[in-house]
Amino acid sequence: MATSSGFDLVVIGAGPGGYMAALRASELGLRTALVERCSKLGGTCLRVGCIPSKALLSSTEAYVFARDRLPRSGIAAKGFGIEMSRLHARKEAIVEKLAQGIAFLMRQNRVEVLEGMGRIVGPHAVAVHMAEREETLETRSIVLATGSEPVELPVLPFDHDRIVGSTEALSFSEAPKSLLVIGAGAIGLELGSVWSRLGSQVVVVEVLPRIAAGFSPIVSKSLQRELEKQEIQFLLGTRVAGGEVKQTEVALQIEQGGKERTLVAERALVAVGRKPCHGGLGLAEAGVSLTAAGRVAVNRFWQTSLPSVYAIGDLIEGPMLAHRAQAEGRAVAELLAGKPAEVRYLAIPNVIYTEPEVASVGFSEEDFHVAKRPYRRGTAYFQANGRALAAEAPEGFVTILMDESSGKIAGMEIVGSRASDLIGTAALALETGATLASLARAVQAHPSFMEGVREAAFAALNASLSVRRSGVS
Ligand code: FAD
Ligand code: NAI
Repeated sequence: MATSSGFDLVVIGAGPGGYMAALRASELGLRTALVERCSKLGGTCLRVGCIPSKALLSSTEAYVFARDRLPRSGIAAKGFGIEMSRLHARKEAIVEKLAQGIAFLMRQNRVEVLEGMGRIVGPHAVAVHMAEREETLETRSIVLATGSEPVELPVLPFDHDRIVGSTEALSFSEAPKSLLVIGAGAIGLELGSVWSRLGSQVVVVEVLPRIAAGFSPIVSKSLQRELEKQEIQFLLGTRVAGGEVKQTEVALQIEQGGKERTLVAERALVAVGRKPCHGGLGLAEAGVSLTAAGRVAVNRFWQTSLPSVYAIGDLIEGPMLAHRAQAEGRAVAELLAGKPAEVRYLAIPNVIYTEPEVASVGFSEEDFHVAKRPYRRGTAYFQANGRALAAEAPEGFVTILMDESSGKIAGMEIVGSRASDLIGTAALALETGATLASLARAVQAHPSFMEGVREAAFAALNASLSVRRSGVS
């Protein structure tokens, strides 16, 4: 087996965490190799996650908007329809373009990319199993960024045709007549929305009493109401007891309130979470410990129990989000190059890209209650926002929380069609320690969705219109 020595860093896994770590390390002068088993760089996020799902969400959102909302403005298209092959072709073209961009960045920054399976074979050695050969890379440090894979329900194993995970549900060649979605988290709600918009009858089965449980109850309720208007049905507090494929259908046994019944649909999407992907990495042999939940255990510098080995992204504890993985990738590379680095986890936004979108960042009211700390809350509704009405997007609201003792912005939640962008204001505020008064003072363009954020700030200051009139802005 060939050996290459002299690396400062070998990164295993080229998702948002891994490619960012490799890129930043190389920029900072470290000799870096990136090992990825797939020919296309970009990881779950680019190949079968964030990007293809958002491409489908954007196309189908525009379709529904044109079909249902534009006619109110007197604009109606004739011969309006869906060509599935073009929908998928556009999605794949976006993925391809971004993958090429990442490959270009690696070449430009002299990151040595190896296509193969990586495995730790010593504190400073990674074996790469490639199609034609095997090579060992000797390195000062190793970063593990091998991401995650879908959780399978033992009572409803994937057959990858009728009972599928998110990867297959991004590529159905036709909209199934009926689709059962198991799990009302980000994947279930986003992909459930895509297929519902394309004509599937979608029923979402969720074990918890509410959808989008990572958000506050009021956001869950508001989103559920909006999605129900779009004819998505929800069975909450419902357990999947079993299921089987019967010819061209899936029969799903569910249990709700002690009663069992069977649901039948053309396909079922299982979206009950993801688990870390570390099989075959040689962790146990190398002495890299796992947490009780099976993720790779790290300290606050992303260092594992084997000090020369680091881990980031979906592989470690925390929310499975691409921007978190990227932030950790950048930070770990900076630490390895001898620079100070940290990730402010509190300032990492969480978004579900339904219509309306939902987004949150920072502390929730529940956090303040638990900590018994005083806070103020302000809410503004998009139905009173001129731009939202003009854009036919009056649904939703902005809620902002202020820490009473410091006057600083502590958290924000948004339901609304531009939530994923607006939430950036609060992420910046948390990062910089901005006060609520400064957000209220900052004049926003009129009309704009950002005015909704500012109105929520005024409401939290308990001075909605009177303060503005008396000269704060
Ligand atoms: P990954 O992106 O999973 O990358 C890991 C890489 O490691 C993969 O390319 C894999 O092939 C490779 N690998 C694994 N083992 C080995 C090995 N032994 N040797 C070599 N290579 C290996 N997050 C968001 O923030 N926003 C979204 O909108 C969003 N949408 C999503 C939609 C879907 C349908 C899914 C499934 C996920 C979505 N996510 C989203 C989550 C996001 O994709 C992940 O949080 C993110 O990709 C994690 O990045 P990572 O770098 O840790 O790992
Ligand atoms: P999730 O953890 O977000 O949601 C899973 C849902 O399934 C939960 O509501 C859970 O209560 C429910 N569930 C679990 N077991 C069940 C059962 N047996 N029967 C019925 N319901 C059950 O996981 P999801 O949606 O699979 O997403 C995986 C990861 O991908 C998440 O961590 C998420 O952050 C990430 N992701 C992020 C996106 C975004 O940022 N917009 C989009 C898609 C995925």
